[in-house]
Amino acid sequence: MALPNLLLVLVAATAIYLVKGTDLKETKLSLYLQDISAFGAANATAVPVAGIAGKAWRFTQFGTLYVTDDNITETPDRNSARVGQVQGMYVTAGLDGLNSHVWVSIVFTNEEYNGSTIQLQGISKQFEAVREVSVVAGTGKFRFARGYATFETYFVDIPTQYAVIRCNVTVQHY
Ligand SMILES: *[C@@H]1O[C@H](CO)[C@@H](O)[C@H](O)[C@H]1NC(C)=O
Ligand SMILES: *[C@@H]1O[C@H](CO)[C@@H](O)[C@H](O)[C@H]1NC(C)=O
Ligand SMILES: *[C@@H]1O[C@H](CO)[C@@H](O)[C@H](O)[C@H]1NC(C)=O
Ligand SMILES: *[C@@H]1O[C@H](CO)[C@@H](O)[C@H](O)[C@H]1NC(C)=O
Repeated sequence: MALPNLLLVLVAATAIYLVKGTDLKETKLSLYLQDISAFGAANATAVPVAGIAGKAWRFTQFGTLYVTDDNITETPDRNSARVGQVQGMYVTAGLDGLNSHVWVSIVFTNEEYNGSTIQLQGISKQFEAVREVSVVAGTGKFRFARGYATFETYFVDIPTQYAVIRCNVTVQHY
């Protein structure tokens, strides 16, 4: 599994184009979020921190706020090279529990983008195979960034609440 994915990532991570008629560059990245949401687990990287009194604090319950700090890796393998972290919050914002509003930053720590960040924001339709949110801003190498990002569940282990989520980012920046 690792080799074909590594090839895809290398191709994707170096896809930088000039946007026609502008000074903008377009960068496409494929990143893997290592997410552990097991309630109360010492290794949890996504934790509900607030919710409606008397209701279960779950991602399907309106009003539940999560804080997250997932490792981001270069391939789906959790031991593959670390690219950074995804840090921020999301709240179940649909009364029916279907939509979550996401505000997170991709905080790069790899050599290529170390110290730069990309800000993602928008509604994630949690039960859809591909969830798309906006890239609203960036810092460092991604100043003036805008674009879009998709989330896809790549792997999930229900008993340990461990999931690998692929995040493809397409971003234009100077
Ligand atoms: C994300 O990028 C990978 C290649 O790195 C591609 O195989 C996959 O289809 C993309 N997903 C979406 C939703 O575009
Ligand atoms: C998180 O910790 C639990 C309990 O120790 C363990 O069963 C689980 O495998 C760990 N998850 C990951 C992804 O390492
Ligand atoms: C995140 O990555 C670091 C460094 O690779 C590792 O030590 C740590 O255990 C990882 N965290 C989780 C929750 O997997
Ligand atoms: C990233 O930057 C920090 C602080 O500037 C530095 O300590 C660290 O070694 C750098 N990491 C890489 C992979 O270049």
